[in-house]
Amino acid sequence: MRIDHIGIAVRDLEAAIATYEALLQTPCYKRESVETEKVETAFFRAGDSKVELLGATTPDSVIATYLEKRGPGLHHIAFEVADVNAELERLTALGFTALTAIPKRGADNKLIAFLHPKSSEGVLVELCQSLV
Ligand code: CO
Repeated sequence: MRIDHIGIAVRDLEAAIATYEALLQTPCYKRESVETEKVETAFFRAGDSKVELLGATTPDSVIATYLEKRGPGLHHIAFEVADVNAELERLTALGFTALTAIPKRGADNKLIAFLHPKSSEGVLVELCQSLV
């Protein structure tokens, strides 16, 4: 599976965008709010993969909770799959715990599902299927 992107939780999205523009030497090419998740995202190209910065839009956002517990940092790794429903079925049959029973619409025009970090050595795993 290809790594589609790495998600990084940030406190100050504007500051983080400037930091990653400098680090990757490439401008943020897309910003998008995901209302259902109460997050604002910013994307950068990094070779064949991407970096997704995630900021909270409300205090009860999953990202706000994450930042409170752990501070800014690596939030998830997203693997590209051809069929997120089929992968979810395959992995739950193998004993992985799905955090998303039914795949949902995520940022960047993807259908996404998450696996609980306890299933994958402490790393939150996103499975994402491109909708375009
Ligand atoms: Co993601």
